[in-house]
Amino acid sequence: MRILGVIFDLDGVILSTDEYHYLAWLDMAKKENIYFDREINERLRGVSRMDSLEIVLERSTKKYSQEEKIKLCEYKNNKYRALLEKLSPKDIFPGATDFLKFLLYKKIKIAIGSSSKNAKYILKKIELYDMFDGHISDGTNITKSKPDPEVFTKAAEMLKINPCNCLVIEDAYAGIEAAKKGGMIAMGIGSAKDCSLCDLRADDISSIDKSIFE
Ligand code: BG6
Ligand code: MG
Repeated sequence: MRILGVIFDLDGVILSTDEYHYLAWLDMAKKENIYFDREINERLRGVSRMDSLEIVLERSTKKYSQEEKIKLCEYKNNKYRALLEKLSPKDIFPGATDFLKFLLYKKIKIAIGSSSKNAKYILKKIELYDMFDGHISDGTNITKSKPDPEVFTKAAEMLKINPCNCLVIEDAYAGIEAAKKGGMIAMGIGSAKDCSLCDLRADDISSIDKSIFE
């Protein structure tokens, strides 16, 4: 296993915007009188906005038109964006910036592989945007959401590295599945640690064993 590039999921890996996604969906669900809890929220990790809405609507008895669904996605995204507004470098998980610097020092390339259309906005807010040198594959350049490997395959192409030499770091089951489908090495952190498809595991970004990069 030779790791030449690392592709990071963003929400829940570099910072806890996953919690903001939860709060924004909870707000939307309450407005529509739909039951929603943290267990359902786990299924939304790594999944696109519209696919996430479809999961939330499973608990609704009402049938929504496509137009209404788009409006609900907009509502959720506005709530989410309001929560993102106060983001700053202080929100980066402990050890994440040092880990990115360590990889660059080791000449290991880094990229983002996130389903989010807000990824670039978030990276700018937390002042990590420049570190990725334009290697940002996100919700704006993909047609298929995780567990499809597209977002990671595109990130590997940006890095010009063979997928088998790319390590994907993910907190979502859907993301681990996507990485394996794309022929990459998959590391599960946080919630994804229990996924049987993981090649590697760590509690969080600060506890990754650096000897795997030797
Ligand atoms: C992923 C999150 O990173 O982005 C999902 O894990 C989210 O929960 C998806 O639905 C899409 O995000 P956005 O910001 O485009 O609504
Ligand atoms: Mg995530």
